[in-house]
Amino acid sequence: MQAREKLIVALDVDDVRAAEAMVERLGDAVVFYKVGYQLAFAGGLPLASALSRAGKRVFLDMKLHDIGNTVARGVANVARLGVHFLTIHAYPQTMRAAVEAKAGSDLKLLAVTVLTSYDDGDLSDAGYALGVDALAAKRAAQARALGVDGLVCSPLEAAALRAVIGADMLLVTPGIRPQGSAAGDQKRALSPAAAIAAGADYLVVGRPILQASDPKAAVETIVAEIAAAERAGE
Ligand code: C5P
Repeated sequence: MQAREKLIVALDVDDVRAAEAMVERLGDAVVFYKVGYQLAFAGGLPLASALSRAGKRVFLDMKLHDIGNTVARGVANVARLGVHFLTIHAYPQTMRAAVEAKAGSDLKLLAVTVLTSYDDGDLSDAGYALGVDALAAKRAAQARALGVDGLVCSPLEAAALRAVIGADMLLVTPGIRPQGSAAGDQKRALSPAAAIAAGADYLVVGRPILQASDPKAAVETIVAEIAAAERAGE
């Protein structure tokens, strides 16, 4: 896989017009986009289909979780949109239903083990007995056993989760900050090179590209850093 194919640009913009303008501006420099709640609820689903038809890859970040029947029907329809990645929460019922529903399609399911905004105290407040590390490892092992294709995780968790899931599952990491870019609300960010070295297969990057004075140049800097990290790891 080319370094460029490992970069997923988060289209975290307010409306479809702004998303289309950014896609136009980035042109061939970007092949993979993430559409999350913000854009999905502002006309982003038809855009996701249109991007797929135009030859781009699309990651639909919907973090689904519901009763199995509802998850299954939703996942089956997402598979028909032609997108490539979909997030679900790493609950066994949800994962089992989603894996069955996408069978035969090209859709890959990524499970979210524990949201990175949660610490041990937040999990305790939510009624969980396990802390973050133990719960994330447990859910990662369940995801693997149930046939989920990959996990979304912090680049700081990537090495530990890789040890649980083995080489075949995908690790997709947001929380990436190229050198010199503002951390914003990402408190535990790693550089693109460090994330690749930690075992990430795909990097999700939003604001360092969207808010750059020259987004395309920002993309090229990140792609070059990914390529250099891969050469260093060979
Ligand atoms: O702008 P930034 O590069 O921080 O964007 C990161 C993207 O990854 C956002 O779409 C955000 O919702 C998502 N994300 C994250 N941290 C997680 C999970 C998802 O930043 N733990």
